Amino acid sequence: MTEETKNRDGFGSKLGVIAAAAGSAIGLGNICRFPCELGENGGAAFLLVYLIVVIFLGIPVMLTELVIGRRSQSNTVGAFKKLAPHSKWPIIGYLGVLSSLLIFASYSVVAGWTLEYIFKAATNSFKGENLAVIEQSFKTFHNTGWLNVLLQAIFIFLTGLVVFKGVQNGIEKYSKILMPMLLVILVVLAIRSITLPGAKEGLSFLFHPDFSKITGDTLIGAMGQGFFSLSLGMGALITYGSYVKKDDNLTSTAFSVMISDTLVAVLAGLVIFPAAFTFGVKPEAGMDLVFSTLPMLFNQMAGGYWFCLIFFILLAIAGLTSTIAMLEVVVAYLSEELHLSRKKATVIASAATLFIGLFASLSLMDHTPLKIDGFAFNDFLDFLTANILLPVGGLLIVIFLGWRLGKTEFFDEVTNGGQRKSPLKHIVFFIIRYLAPLAVAVILIAGLIK
Ligand code: PFF
Repeated sequence: MTEETKNRDGFGSKLGVIAAAAGSAIGLGNICRFPCELGENGGAAFLLVYLIVVIFLGIPVMLTELVIGRRSQSNTVGAFKKLAPHSKWPIIGYLGVLSSLLIFASYSVVAGWTLEYIFKAATNSFKGENLAVIEQSFKTFHNTGWLNVLLQAIFIFLTGLVVFKGVQNGIEKYSKILMPMLLVILVVLAIRSITLPGAKEGLSFLFHPDFSKITGDTLIGAMGQGFFSLSLGMGALITYGSYVKKDDNLTSTAFSVMISDTLVAVLAGLVIFPAAFTFGVKPEAGMDLVFSTLPMLFNQMAGGYWFCLIFFILLAIAGLTSTIAMLEVVVAYLSEELHLSRKKATVIASAATLFIGLFASLSLMDHTPLKIDGFAFNDFLDFLTANILLPVGGLLIVIFLGWRLGKTEFFDEVTNGGQRKSPLKHIVFFIIRYLAPLAVAVILIAGLIK
C-alpha cells in the first residue's frame, strides 16, 4: 500500500457506505424524474421494464463500479490508470468526469427549485389555493431567470460545503442522518395519498401494465432512468467504492442500494399518482406532478402545512446527497490526478458547474433561445447524459471488467480475497461479460438510430 493510499479519506462503517451510496442513488431522480418518465411512458408497463433493467443491468454494473473503485483505491480516472497502465481505458474515467459535470449542471436547476418551494411552504403560500393558481405560480417562478440561477448557485454552494469537508466527516455523516428521515416521510405521505378518492385509478396506472404500451422508447427511457437513478456509468460508484473498507461486502452493498432506490421510486409513485388522479392532473404532466400536484395534496391533509414543509426540505436533502456524489467525482479527480487541494478542487468544480448550469437554468424560460434541436438546453443535457453518456459509460465499464480486468480479480474482490462466499459470482460475471454489454449496446444503438 502506498503512502498516498494509506492516508486516503474513506467511509468509517458499512452503514455509512450504504447511506452514502443510497444517498447518491436516491434523489430527484426518484421523486421527480421517475414519476415523470413513468407518466410519459405508459405507467405500469414502464415500471415493469424498469424493474427488469435495474435487476439485470443495474446490479451488475453497480457491482462492477464498486469492484473497480475498491480494487484501485482511486478516483475514476486514476482507477483505470492503475488497473490498466499505459492504455486508453482512462478515457472511461474522463467521460465520467464530464458526465458528472453536465448532470450536476442540469440537476442543480431543479435542486434549486426545492429551495424556493421550502420558502413557499414555510410561508404557507399554497394554503386554500386551487390547482390552477398553484400551477401558474410554478410557471411564473421558472420564468424568473435570475431567481432560478441564484437558487441554483446556493445549491451548488451547499454541495461544495459538504464535499469540502471530506468523505467521513461530510458525505457519510450527513447521509446517515438524512436518508432514514426521507424514507419515513415518504411512507407517511404514501399512506395519505392512497386514501384519496382517486387512489384506485392511480394505483391501477402504476401497477396494471398495458403491454401494448411497451415501445422502443420505453426501453430506452427505462434504461436511462435505471442508470441515472442508480448513479451508474459516470464513476460515482467507482469513486465511492474506492472509499469502502477491504472487508466490506460489495455484493450486499449493491443489493441494498438497488432495493432502497427502487423502493423510494415506487413510494414516490404511490404518493404522486393517486394524488394526480384525484385532482385531475394528467400523469404526463412532468414536473407539475411534484411542484403543483403535491402542494394540492398537502392542502387536503390534516397537518398539511408541516408535511409540505418537511417534504420539500427532504426533497432538497435527497437532491443534496446526490449532488454531493456528482461533485465528489470531479473533486476526487482534480485533487488526486492534478494534485489540487480539496478546497481548490471544490471551488473550481463548483464554478464550472455553475457556468454550464446557468445556461441550463435560463433555457427553461418560455421563449428561450437556448435550444438545441428543439429541446431546451436543460432537457437536452438531461437526455444526453441519462440516455446516452451514462449507458455508454456503463457499457465501457462492464467491457473493461469483463474483458480486461477479468474473472480472477473480480472474484478476488467480491469474495474479499477468498474470505467470503459469493454463490452468484459466476452468474454475475457472465452477465457482466456478455449480457450487460450486449443489452446496453442494443438498446443504445436502437435508440440512436431512432
Ligand atoms: N441518482 C440520482 C437521482 O436519482 O436523483 C442522480 C445522480 C446522482 C446521478 C449521482 C448520478 C450521480 F453520480
